[in-house]
Amino acid sequence: MTTFGFIGAGNMASAIVKGAVATGANPSDFVVADAYQASADALAEATGVTAVGSNDEVIAAADYVVLAVKPQVLPGVLEAAADAFAEHRPTVVSIAAGLTLARLGSLLPQGTAVVRVMPNVNAMVGAAMSAVAGNERATSADVDTVVGLMDSVGDAVVIPEKDFSAYTALAGSSPSWVFTFIEALTKAGVKHGLTRPLAARIAAQAVAGSAQLAIARAGEQSASDLSDMVCSPGGTTIAGLLAAEAAGFTPAIVAAVDATVQRDRELGA
Ligand SMILES: NC(=O)c1ccc[n+]([C@@H]2O[C@H](COP(=O)([O-])OP(=O)(O)OC[C@H]3O[C@@H](n4cnc5c(N)ncnc54)[C@H](OP(=O)(O)O)[C@@H]3O)[C@@H](O)[C@H]2O)c1
Repeated sequence: MTTFGFIGAGNMASAIVKGAVATGANPSDFVVADAYQASADALAEATGVTAVGSNDEVIAAADYVVLAVKPQVLPGVLEAAADAFAEHRPTVVSIAAGLTLARLGSLLPQGTAVVRVMPNVNAMVGAAMSAVAGNERATSADVDTVVGLMDSVGDAVVIPEKDFSAYTALAGSSPSWVFTFIEALTKAGVKHGLTRPLAARIAAQAVAGSAQLAIARAGEQSASDLSDMVCSPGGTTIAGLLAAEAAGFTPAIVAAVDATVQRDRELGA
């Protein structure tokens, strides 16, 4: 039996705990605490997990302690709990954006096993993409356990930490661009006579369905193959696709990824 403790019971912790319990995890294996006790109590009420009154109690109870607070408060949280971490030596799991394994390690007792996770906003609906990387103290069993936890709110991959910047662009930031794409489709629909709610619904479902199809066909057909499938010769779709490319569609996306990677490296420096 593996016990997970959560420090912070906000959006991300709630999404992960709810996803884990909904996919069969035993609520009695989860302990949560939050600076605002009502948040921990609400999560406990909703899922059957145990809310406790302090971060130290989480650390004492859990094999894996998930740090689910904002990155700016994390160093203070770790400092305040240093004695508890030193006494109980749990594996520490961080979902904080931008905090590297080296930085996390420097904030924890020497020799602490640390697993860094980068989920994305789609954890809110159980459809996250998460990247997972462990430090030199984390065992493959630690990494597998965290992948299992994150799989309960979507899909999770193990990648070297050096690839986190590229991952951040492709999964952390890209939802913002996809929402912008949905909004652009919606506006275009309104331009052509659809009501805004109807256009928004049609656009979002078209994007969601396309993503589902790409996932279902992964390994058999590339996104490019699927695009070709929709482009019948002399048809409407190829006319639209070429117009989008003439307006810089692919270069715009590559530029967005480039800028994100560069900014991520600047912030991590
Ligand atoms: N949201 C995303 O899409 C996303 C994606 C990837 C990674 N992340 C990462 O996930 C982490 C959590 O983000 P979130 O969106 O879940 O934030 P959130 O909703 O603000 O949750 C953080 C929770 O931690 C609580 N907290 C603050 N200080 C604490 C302390 N000293 N001890 C215990 N609990 C404390 C907060 O309570 P109060 O509200 O009372 O301060 C809040 O309930 C962040 O590090 C973020 O970088 C988020």
